[in-house]
Amino acid sequence: MPFLSKAVSRIKPSPTVAMTGRVAALQAEGRDIIGLSAGEPDFDTPAHIREAAKAAIDAGHTRYTAVDGMASLKQAICQKFARENGLDYTPDQISVGTGGKQILFNALLASVGPGDEVIIPAPYWVSYPDIVALAGGTPVILPSRAEDGFRITPDALRRAITPQTKWLILNSPSNPSGAAYDAEQLRALCAVLLDHPQVWVLADDIYEHLCFDGFRFATPAQVEPRLRDRVLTMNGVSKAYAMTGWRIGYGAGPVELIRAMAKLQSQSTSNPSTISQHAALAALSGPQEFLQGWRDDFQARRDLVVAGLNDCPGIDCPVPQGAFYVYPSIRAMIGWRSPAGTPITDDEVFANALLDEAGVAVVFGAAFGLSPHFRISYAASTDTLTEALRRIRAFCEGCDASPRATAPSSPRRR
Ligand SMILES: Cc1ncc(COP(=O)(O)O)c(C=O)c1O
Repeated sequence: MPFLSKAVSRIKPSPTVAMTGRVAALQAEGRDIIGLSAGEPDFDTPAHIREAAKAAIDAGHTRYTAVDGMASLKQAICQKFARENGLDYTPDQISVGTGGKQILFNALLASVGPGDEVIIPAPYWVSYPDIVALAGGTPVILPSRAEDGFRITPDALRRAITPQTKWLILNSPSNPSGAAYDAEQLRALCAVLLDHPQVWVLADDIYEHLCFDGFRFATPAQVEPRLRDRVLTMNGVSKAYAMTGWRIGYGAGPVELIRAMAKLQSQSTSNPSTISQHAALAALSGPQEFLQGWRDDFQARRDLVVAGLNDCPGIDCPVPQGAFYVYPSIRAMIGWRSPAGTPITDDEVFANALLDEAGVAVVFGAAFGLSPHFRISYAASTDTLTEALRRIRAFCEGCDASPRATAPSSPRRR
């Protein structure tokens, strides 16, 4: 009998984490690799947040806290929702976990089992389908189209819902496409859900603070109050405050679900790091003005990267509304040969050739459920991005576009 469980055999390691590990290994060998695969801001955690953590240690805040978060942090999260999203929550409707990932994990494990379906628009963040599969549920992948700005349409959503549908996961702005839904577009999706009371919404708002060109962030619980009783709004400090390593995420939703999530957490990690909770408290209740400066920086980098990629033969890069990713298409390159002669048959081959031949690490689109694309994280300095773009352009210009090695592939579906 195999030793490892069936549950663990249903999942795979995170491809983005794997690529980041591969980049580190190649760099350790002395290879000149530019890594654009990691999903984290390149800024330092602001000084006032670091100081709050140090003060917490010195004040002896080094013991266990309540399993799903300190009362003061829950209070600050309620204030954040009121201030930024116009949402009224009470502390018993809040759960704090070890990163947004644990909030998603707890929510899905607390609610999904065999026979349950979870609708996941593609391209999606790599962990959603695996967490659903670990829980024994069925991920139902709903592909979006670049022509629709990588947003699913209300009609497509309606067609994907069955009596077994338990959740719709909505991530706006999106990792990996950067696409975001405005209030009107969200309202149209919520209108479909009003007809299907068995379906809950898991809103992953982790990139809320990274919206560009004046785009106004919106979230389902805010735009459709009639859905409030079946929305879990997830957020965290990782991306907004450059705190990926501190591991604090939070969710707001119906008390019954929040209690079940706390029960799960009480039997796994217990409370998230007490010191990190104090740091998150400082992040959420301290100054917010610097976020605009970071937003401006990211927007300038987005513009640099989109323009640079659209200058590369074979690459078509839409302009995203938010996050720090672009998700260009390489449809035109399928059938070309790389400069070293590798037939580019799909986006995984493309990404591997780009790494081997040009020393630029990106993540292939199939990992996010929508091909033929690749994801670039532009959370890197302008100099690094400029050099990466120069290499990508040289790679594309060095490709042999004729004769076509294979027939063009159609978008992959999981
Ligand atoms: C869309 C999305 N959701 C959730 C997370 C989890 O963030 P964390 O666990 O670092 O808070 C990430 C991290 O990459 C993400 O991209």
